[in-house]
Amino acid sequence: MDNVILEIKNLSKSFAKNKVLDGINLTLKKGSVLGLMGENGAGKSTMMKCLFGIYAKDEGQFIFDGKITNFKSPKEALENGVAMVHQELNQCLDRTVTDNLFLGRYPTRAGIIDEAKMLKDANKLFASLNMNVNPSTIMRTMSVSQRQMVEIAKAVSYDAKIIVLDEPTSSLTEREVQKLFSIVNDLKKKGVSFVYISHKMDEIFEICDEVSVLRDGKLIMTKPTKETNMNELIAAMVGRSLDKRFPDVDNTPGDDYLEIDDLSTKFEPQLENISFKVKKGEIFGLYGLVGAGRSELLESIFGIRTIASGSIKVNGKKMRFKSSKDAMDHDFALVTEERKLNGMFGKDTIRFNTVITNLNSYKKNGMLNNILMEEAANRQIKQMKTKCVSCDELITALSGGNQQKVIIGKWMERQPDIFLLDEPTRGIDVGAKYEIYQLIIQMAKQGKTILVVSSEMPEILGITNRIAVMSNHRLAGIVNTHETNQEELLRLSAKYL
Ligand SMILES: Nc1ncnc2c1ncn2[C@@H]1O[C@H](COP(=O)(O)OP(=O)(O)OP(=O)(O)O)[C@@H](O)[C@H]1O
Ligand SMILES: [Mg+2]
Repeated sequence: MDNVILEIKNLSKSFAKNKVLDGINLTLKKGSVLGLMGENGAGKSTMMKCLFGIYAKDEGQFIFDGKITNFKSPKEALENGVAMVHQELNQCLDRTVTDNLFLGRYPTRAGIIDEAKMLKDANKLFASLNMNVNPSTIMRTMSVSQRQMVEIAKAVSYDAKIIVLDEPTSSLTEREVQKLFSIVNDLKKKGVSFVYISHKMDEIFEICDEVSVLRDGKLIMTKPTKETNMNELIAAMVGRSLDKRFPDVDNTPGDDYLEIDDLSTKFEPQLENISFKVKKGEIFGLYGLVGAGRSELLESIFGIRTIASGSIKVNGKKMRFKSSKDAMDHDFALVTEERKLNGMFGKDTIRFNTVITNLNSYKKNGMLNNILMEEAANRQIKQMKTKCVSCDELITALSGGNQQKVIIGKWMERQPDIFLLDEPTRGIDVGAKYEIYQLIIQMAKQGKTILVVSSEMPEILGITNRIAVMSNHRLAGIVNTHETNQEELLRLSAKYL
């Protein structure tokens, strides 16, 4: 077993009565990448958190580098050669990159933190990874994708033997993904092993040597990537084969409804002279490379960003929202891409998170009514097929993808007239994506106007009526979905680079 770095034997774990991992057996080879796939809530993150010392396993063994190991904390895991990049970033946003890199292991000299050494080491680390990051930057001022890259660099800096990457590319730009893959390939050659968790098939096939599939806490299959294919993986994940990835887009858009005219924003990154019209009952896609300004556009419409010039009209009536509350009062809704910062109350239950933006609808005689709130939460759990024990569970107890479903559900409860969706299916598994697509199409058929940002080409081509492509904060073109193709979208997204 010389070439094996980690053996997982008969691993089981329950949260209360919920058996989340059930007798898992798995081996990770030295210098290789093992992909881990499975539906939302299948147990992927939990399995790796047991190894990493965040959760205590109930049964089974980890044999790491030939020895039975049972890390009691992430600190112990890190010190012994296991690092993990988490699905949900957990960084001190008001501190610098350097602080975040060395948190919990500040180098000291004569009892005093050695700032100079920290800075030097940080610069060395980024240079060795060929990354362009200023270590003195405050995290909050960086984009999500840069913050994610810092987290990856941090994992690498521990000289770990195993690095677990839990959906590491969810907000990386295409170029950063390629950089990550080249880092992974370099470290592989040095004998580092990876567990790579992702819902993105193309990544799994590009970077993984082997792939394992979990379903409902059980290990369903492990195969060399070369010997399997997408259909086999999907069937293993969902327990049946999905004949279609997208439902029929059979809505009929009406008249022009939302009009954006010559919109520019005031602060960086500045949007320049954006104009387009969206019809009532239309699904309007916004495509572009990460950083092209799509999220900023949605935020400007929603009253979060300061508009410098231009106008927004709904049904011919001028709107200029001063806040998101103002936008919500006019029946707009926005699902943000960064749920942890903007969308979620982590210390509260699924029920609370479902009703919070819509409290007035759950009042009876002026008082909040528990039954109505519970009904709402259960309605959305059912509609979104959220995997949970009950609506009284804390939202943080859900898997990443299931948290996203709760956030979408809460906006569904508001029945918005204009629905802005920013990467709504990020982190959501293939089966559940289909359900969300169906809901979007159904809403459009009810006459709702939908703007959806997606970086996934097949998705934007699969569920929209028209697509606006943004390039470097400008509008590069608008195309009819059934008349366009991947090449045209790519060409437009590079128009102003
Ligand atoms: N701290 C916790 N307390 C209670 N239940 C939990 C906790 N963490 C996870 N679970 C439950 O364990 C199950 C597996 O969750 P896990 O996060 O491992 O899923 P996952 O495969 O990573 O899914 P995703 O693709 O959505 O990230 C879920 O049903 C979840 O609700
Ligand atoms: Mg997970």
